[in-house]
Amino acid sequence: MKKITVVGAGFVGATTVQRIAEKELGDVVMTDIIEGMPQGKALDMMQSAPIEGFNVEVLGTNDYKDIEGSDVVVITAGIARKPGMTREDLIKINSKIVGDVCENIKKYAPESIVIVVTNPLDIMTYIAMKKTGFHPSRVIGMSGLLDSARFATFVAMELGCSPKDVDAMVLGGHGDTMVPLPRHTTVSGVPITELMDEETIDKLVERTVNGGAEIVELLKTGSAFYAPSAAITAMVESIVRDQHRILPAAVYLHGQYGYDGIYLGVPVKLGQQGVEAILELDLTESEQAMLDKSAEAVKIGISTLDI
Ligand code: NAI
Ligand code: 2OP
Repeated sequence: MKKITVVGAGFVGATTVQRIAEKELGDVVMTDIIEGMPQGKALDMMQSAPIEGFNVEVLGTNDYKDIEGSDVVVITAGIARKPGMTREDLIKINSKIVGDVCENIKKYAPESIVIVVTNPLDIMTYIAMKKTGFHPSRVIGMSGLLDSARFATFVAMELGCSPKDVDAMVLGGHGDTMVPLPRHTTVSGVPITELMDEETIDKLVERTVNGGAEIVELLKTGSAFYAPSAAITAMVESIVRDQHRILPAAVYLHGQYGYDGIYLGVPVKLGQQGVEAILELDLTESEQAMLDKSAEAVKIGISTLDI
């Protein structure tokens, strides 16, 4: 039985644990600094097992010793973005939290693969790689799959078609500079550039880029968690079931796309070793220019770090 830990039992963390348990991807440990809260949520989830029919253990804890031997650790611990707050505003608080979490991962789950969710995503993933000291293929950020799912949803809404038939691709940092790729976004194999006019595509691209903020504005007290937890669970599944899925995720680039030493969202192959391959798409000049802008924003974020 695989063992999966989710650090941070808030909206994203707890929903992820629920999805992982219901899919029986492994036994799950959910940890948080708030005493009693992860234990209470875990017990509640266990009591849904007879109804949902899953047969894995969900353990809530405040003790990092319980994460020992985890195959995958998901980091959702941190502060969520509030209305008007940019992801970059979160850097200071969340880098300290992620740094502390990583010290414990290094100590108690040194063989694990780490999926970082905490924002600002590309920068927190970089911190996690540095603080754990793990090989970069074992430290991955969740962003592109969520952003692509948002793009796919808006395409399906526009065309009135099933979201199951839409495959979208979004590259770049998980922020205002992300790069949705209409040329690589298809409906049953047909690029959307053949199905919609440019003005409509531009509208959908803009809504995708603002996808997280749109939900923050509506919720007022927090940020998205249903689609994020679905994206995290798909990544965990590809790793623990060694599915070799090709998904966009934030990974450490060493020369690919012309960048070195930063985390950025690109398509990767995910299996039980973590990142098995990084796919390099042939970009047009304008796509590459947008990606350059995104990489620059991540570089600036990294340069402010004190590590
Ligand atoms: P939340 O506030 O509901 O949950 C965060 C949890 O982290 C809280 O329960 C808190 O007690 C816990 N926590 C804080 N410090 C901790 C520590 N040192 N150790 C363990 N737990 C600690 O927030 P939510 O909505 O779950 O979001 C979590 C993070 O994920 C935020 O940074 C948010 O911006 C980010 N996020 C990223 C997405 C992405 O695409 N990468 C998508 C959605 C959210
Ligand atoms: C989102 O995109 C907050 O990063 C989070 O919803």
